[in-house]
Amino acid sequence: MVVLERIEELDTIYNSHCNSEKEKTNLTKPNGSIELHNVTLFLNNKLVLKEISINFEPTLINGIMGCNGSGKTTILNLINRVYSIDSGIIKVSNQNIDDIKYHSLQENFAFVKQNPVLFDLSLIDNILLFDGSEKITQEELKNACEAVNLLDDINKMPYGFSTEFNDQNKLSVGQTQKLQIARMLLMNRPIILIDEATVNLDENSKEKIYNLFRDLSKSKTIILATNSDKDKLLCDNINYLK
Ligand SMILES: Nc1ncnc2c1ncn2[C@@H]1O[C@H](COP(=O)(O)OP(=O)(O)OP(=O)(O)O)[C@@H](O)[C@H]1O
Ligand SMILES: [Mg+2]
Repeated sequence: MVVLERIEELDTIYNSHCNSEKEKTNLTKPNGSIELHNVTLFLNNKLVLKEISINFEPTLINGIMGCNGSGKTTILNLINRVYSIDSGIIKVSNQNIDDIKYHSLQENFAFVKQNPVLFDLSLIDNILLFDGSEKITQEELKNACEAVNLLDDINKMPYGFSTEFNDQNKLSVGQTQKLQIARMLLMNRPIILIDEATVNLDENSKEKIYNLFRDLSKSKTIILATNSDKDKLLCDNINYLK
């Protein structure tokens, strides 16, 4: 039921973006820069962001910090075009995101969510939930799971990668976070949006994944929304929300 509601929600969001797609362009020569200029957003008549201006730069880990409810997740959703802003401009690679075809924009992002959802599918199908996943080899899949310290856990499951999830068979919260980080690695997109995605990881795994983020940032744009002082040390710059 939850899965169906989520699919319907995604469908509504997608269709709302499709209406004037024909006039839009593809994202050409993406350099991975992201700019918010005087962005204001109301959600259900509530002012959520007021005249926010931030530049996120390629080849850096760009931090967003601020207390609960300050708007970190909302900013990531805006960049991903889940909501439309009330005023201001958001640019990706110097192009206004409102002028970019939805699919062309999405092809540039991997979003590691604060509250990831697992579907009632096999473990492998939960990882390979993205365009282009049919090209992923078994070796790449195993390497990505090893890189996030998840492969040993998968090998201990009753049917390994084919293990089906359902009400009786679940992953822990930390394992689920690792699964979506593995998915992000396999997606190999130029811009990575990470929303509090290390909160539930054990210290060993956290160190490993921090090194991974550092390596990825050499060639990608990373935006990391966090409240953790440890995550803060990982960031090359910090944008504080009030
Ligand atoms: N659909 C919505 N309708 C109305 N208000 C919303 C909606 N979604 C979020 N908000 C409000 O927007 C504000 C920012 O929420 P957001 O989730 O971006 O905060 P956050 O900084 O990510 O918080 P946290 O640290 O808890 O993850 C909150 O005050 C929240 O109540
Ligand atoms: Mg949040």
